[in-house]
Amino acid sequence: MRRAVRFRLNGERVECADFAPRRTLLDYLRETRRLLGTKEGCGEGDCGACTVAVGRLREGRLVYEPVNACIALLGQMDGADLVTVDALARDGALHPVQEAMVARHGSQCGFCTPGIVMSLFTLHEEAPRPVGRRMVEDALAGNLCRCTGYRPIVDAALEACAEPSHTAFAQERPARAAALAELDDGDDLFVGDEARFFAAPASLEALDALCLRHPDATLLAGATDVGLWITKALMDIEKIVWLGRVRELDVIEDDGEALTFGAMASHARAYAPLEAMHPDLGELMRRFGSVQVRASGTVGGNVANGSPIGDLPPALIALGAQLRLRREGETRDLPLEDFFIAYRKQDRREGEYVANLRVPRLGPDEAFRCFKVTKRFDEDISSVMGAFRFDLDGRRVAGARIAYGGMAGVPARARAAEAALIGASLDDPASWERALAALAQDFTPMSDHRASADYRALVARNLLFKALLEIAGGDASQTRLPTPLERPAI
Ligand SMILES: Cc1cc2nc3c(=O)[nH]c(=O)nc-3n(C[C@H](O)[C@H](O)[C@H](O)COP(=O)(O)OP(=O)(O)OC[C@H]3O[C@@H](n4cnc5c(N)ncnc54)[C@H](O)[C@@H]3O)c2cc1C
Ligand code: FES
Ligand code: FES
Repeated sequence: MRRAVRFRLNGERVECADFAPRRTLLDYLRETRRLLGTKEGCGEGDCGACTVAVGRLREGRLVYEPVNACIALLGQMDGADLVTVDALARDGALHPVQEAMVARHGSQCGFCTPGIVMSLFTLHEEAPRPVGRRMVEDALAGNLCRCTGYRPIVDAALEACAEPSHTAFAQERPARAAALAELDDGDDLFVGDEARFFAAPASLEALDALCLRHPDATLLAGATDVGLWITKALMDIEKIVWLGRVRELDVIEDDGEALTFGAMASHARAYAPLEAMHPDLGELMRRFGSVQVRASGTVGGNVANGSPIGDLPPALIALGAQLRLRREGETRDLPLEDFFIAYRKQDRREGEYVANLRVPRLGPDEAFRCFKVTKRFDEDISSVMGAFRFDLDGRRVAGARIAYGGMAGVPARARAAEAALIGASLDDPASWERALAALAQDFTPMSDHRASADYRALVARNLLFKALLEIAGGDASQTRLPTPLERPAI
């Protein structure tokens, strides 16, 4: 059992044996280490001012990702190579992204600049070349700039990332990877005492034991929800069990018939396999939070939090996903939709945790669509999320799985609409009407600051219609607007 968190910070090995379990990484950097380059803006993962680069070993390779330090917890840095903006310049020479930001006038008041530089740093060090405009825009979706405007920043990024990285960081990679491998002792981590601790078990068995001993502890995955409980709801969480060191939970397996996502698979890692399953899932992941949120947030956390507006649950329910829960070495499988009982109430027993999700691949006669409707294109939570899988017998609908987020207190199937769609013909839109009308039986949505009840009901109906129209094919299937980058220049 190890009693201190160990990581590397700007090239130096650090150990922390005495800290509050809820201590955020940003507070540690600014207050304890006086590394003031990293800024605090929103404190809730939205603005990117606090972005730092976190490097971890993935299949032996060191990979840096941008992370929002304001909602990450200090304990989560265990085993990481942390780089802050304070350490980018070497011997007075700026990093290429810093140089380009200066040359292109990418900074005015400068408050957002450290975060933008760190997002561009990870792009510069990690992205395959060539780096195009869309890659840059996606990389910056989690960084807000109020005064400069994005054109000079995007230009700076394109200029800096034109060539592969030859920086000191690129040259130091092998040494940094070796230093991280040394930190990886495979021991369970426990900092604190039985009343107040940050723990990170290193195996499923150790996690089982800890969950049994402390069923009241908060399970922590990527902290993109839990971090806000601390910074916004000011909750004093006393006992934290972080799942980030349990290797068995951080896997994505493909047995040909289904993909199984371990609960700790991050959205960044789930992105490509989901996109390969269906392009709409790729688009969903592209618009899931930001690069920073996807780097930290996990598939398991998105399901376990029970949010009625989480993006993955409707899509995975429509695909027929099975959820695996585990407690004391025993596992229990259930259809994902059965996990959500009522608003923020899940079918999870004391000491039980989400182990993985098995998502069947689409068969040759199965058609799928999913759509996320938000006020903003990037970095926004759904007003309504609709996902549809139709089992086709030629041009007839032989079976349907329809799931929505934002329409009820839980992500839920539209069972009346599903039943009404059986036997409908793709060639006869009049035969879809019963299913469209049946949505009113399935849901009584509510009004809130994101959308009114009427708007939600209309959007849900339109999304089902759109899915049917697209799958039916023909000219009427041109239902999508080109994104700004795809539109011809005027
Ligand atoms: C800026 C921002 C943008 C966001 N954008 C989106 C978005 O576009 N779409 C969207 O759906 N969500 C979004 N979110 C919400 C959040 O990122 C997701 O819900 C994310 O998947 C949560 O995962 P996590 O690993 O960070 O969970 P955590 O915050 O670590 O945990 C969330 C909850 O799940 C529990 N938990 C975690 N893992 C397990 C487990 N294995 N077993 C049992 N319980 C567990 C925790 O105890 C906690 O109650 C956003 C959040 C932020 C801050
Ligand atoms: S301070 Fe805004 S994302 Fe962290
Ligand atoms: S330069 Fe002022 S917020 Fe970006």
